[in-house]
Amino acid sequence: MNMCSLIYLSVLLVLILPLPSSLSTNSEGNALHAFRTRLSDPNNVLQSWDPTLVNSCTWFHVTCDSNNHVIRLDLGNSNISGTLGPELAQLTHLQYLELYNNNIYGNIPNELGNLKNLISMDLYNNKFQGVIPNSFANLNSLKFLRLNNNKLTGPIPRQLTHLQNLKFFDVSNNDLCGTIPVDGNFGSFPAQSFENNGLNGPELKGLVPYDFGC
Ligand SMILES: *[C@@H]1O[C@H](CO)[C@@H](O)[C@H](O)[C@H]1NC(C)=O
Repeated sequence: MNMCSLIYLSVLLVLILPLPSSLSTNSEGNALHAFRTRLSDPNNVLQSWDPTLVNSCTWFHVTCDSNNHVIRLDLGNSNISGTLGPELAQLTHLQYLELYNNNIYGNIPNELGNLKNLISMDLYNNKFQGVIPNSFANLNSLKFLRLNNNKLTGPIPRQLTHLQNLKFFDVSNNDLCGTIPVDGNFGSFPAQSFENNGLNGPELKGLVPYDFGC
């Protein structure tokens, strides 16, 4: 590469690097489109999700803020089935992930723990399997975490007791094991939030938790 083309290339890079903010919506649109391709949608609730539209903020069940960032995904009671993938983590401004009362199965992606702005995650009444990701301990804005009525296994990650904003937590009707944490806000969650699992406890405060058969 000679000097001239090197300069040309540098100028070109400087010109294209400061991406206009409208393009960030596009990456969120791509994430939503990837999310859609994993789902079957017998009731056509995702019909308006046209990937050729530049702005996915016009799609039904998607809400954006004034900067065209996706802040809500409202797909509860939609009869959708399929799995979730890591692409949802690209919706970095997401505050509400509402996917309750559907037929979604498979693991909950660890990448959802990257959604730092999430206030509410409602995945209840689906067919999720596998464990509650430890990465959820990073969801510092989270107030509502409802994972009840699925097929989740493993323990309740103890790190979730560090979530200071968590006000409502429900994991009832799963196949969880181990002890029920009591630290942090977990001390104020009702017993009903944990019922119909293989859980022991609540554990005794100050004792090292002992996860029987977990
Ligand atoms: C949900 O989708 C299934 C097909 O997967 C269909 O048989 C059923 O009628 C739908 N339920 C509702 C409430 O629309």
